[in-house]
Amino acid sequence: MIVKTPTPENLLLGPGPCNISKGVSEALSRPLLGHLDPRFIGVMETVKGQLRQIFDTKNTVTFPISATGSAGMEFLLANFLEPGDKIVVGVNGVFGGRVAALSEKLGAKVIRLEQEWGRAIDPETFCQVVKNNSPKIATLVNGETSTGVYQPMIGVGDACRDAGSLLLVDCVTSLAGMPVHIDKWGADLVFSGTQKCIGVPPGLAPVTISKRALEVYRERSKPTPSFYFDLDAILAYVDGEGGRSYHHTAPISMVFALEAGLNKVLAEGLEARWERHEDAAAYLRSELAVFGFEPVVPEGERLNPLTTLYLPRGLDDAVTRGKLLNDHQIEVGAGLGPLKGKIWRIGLMAGNAQRSSVDRLVEVLNMVL
Ligand SMILES: Cc1ncc(COP(=O)(O)O)c(C=O)c1O
Repeated sequence: MIVKTPTPENLLLGPGPCNISKGVSEALSRPLLGHLDPRFIGVMETVKGQLRQIFDTKNTVTFPISATGSAGMEFLLANFLEPGDKIVVGVNGVFGGRVAALSEKLGAKVIRLEQEWGRAIDPETFCQVVKNNSPKIATLVNGETSTGVYQPMIGVGDACRDAGSLLLVDCVTSLAGMPVHIDKWGADLVFSGTQKCIGVPPGLAPVTISKRALEVYRERSKPTPSFYFDLDAILAYVDGEGGRSYHHTAPISMVFALEAGLNKVLAEGLEARWERHEDAAAYLRSELAVFGFEPVVPEGERLNPLTTLYLPRGLDDAVTRGKLLNDHQIEVGAGLGPLKGKIWRIGLMAGNAQRSSVDRLVEVLNMVL
């Protein structure tokens, strides 16, 4: 007997994935093409152009890595860090911590600039640390999903350039939900993910690499110690002029889905999309304030796609989230690290960034609380 596990139609208001649109879902079920079929290569070229638009960059090397956001991080660090290299990492949550931990595994000398969870890293302090250390790479998380902080980037690119450092930025949760301007920021190495504000399932990590960074890559003392993440080998497939060589089998359906998701983003327009995410987040804060939820992050540092709220006194975190999920098919995210049990992380991403998502949550909270 074949047992089918039923999948409920949950409203995904956690830290990602979010719900996907009909267009994305249809793209996932399109007939497959071979990964070297010129028609598929054409789709990949379209996706690369779309990604340049949403990253706001002219970087030729802009494409999706075939795995989730963390693979984008690992791909960049594996290719651009060598043992003994210095890296400055802004750490104000889980994902800055992940960059630092991974850099250590790769044998780099990690200089951490720690900040209290729930606050942005002061750009001036970060620039000063970069200036004092002249690392090979300096890193900031633009949208810290563990705390709900949007990191200001002003002045950081110039400071990195002056120090001879490459600026690496994690845009997993900010891309397509809040302003991201790779060239204007002077960012050299950037990665994102598909399951947040692009509104596509998890499975691809869009990346973009500056010309300056490529020159640094050419000066590696040894080849990248990875098969799957080897930049040159991947470029021979995604960027090969006059022909593409096999490196790994591209996840065809996910690339179709990404094309559909990015079409939707560009049809709406980036600014309109950022405003929609902002409006939904503001509405969420005001509606949940009535129950006693209070913002963790001060105004001006908030990540609109992911809002963090302190729980009202007396609310049982796990029990209430369990009721929302099991009885009402609404997922919200729990706090992590020092914020565990104290906050909720509520994602209003892509098509879910609507007042109607908040209304549904409020309706259910009125029943549950
Ligand atoms: C800011 C940030 N960076 C990196 C990641 C890692 O991405 P993934 O879980 O898709 O591997 C996430 C995932 O939530 C994230 O929010």
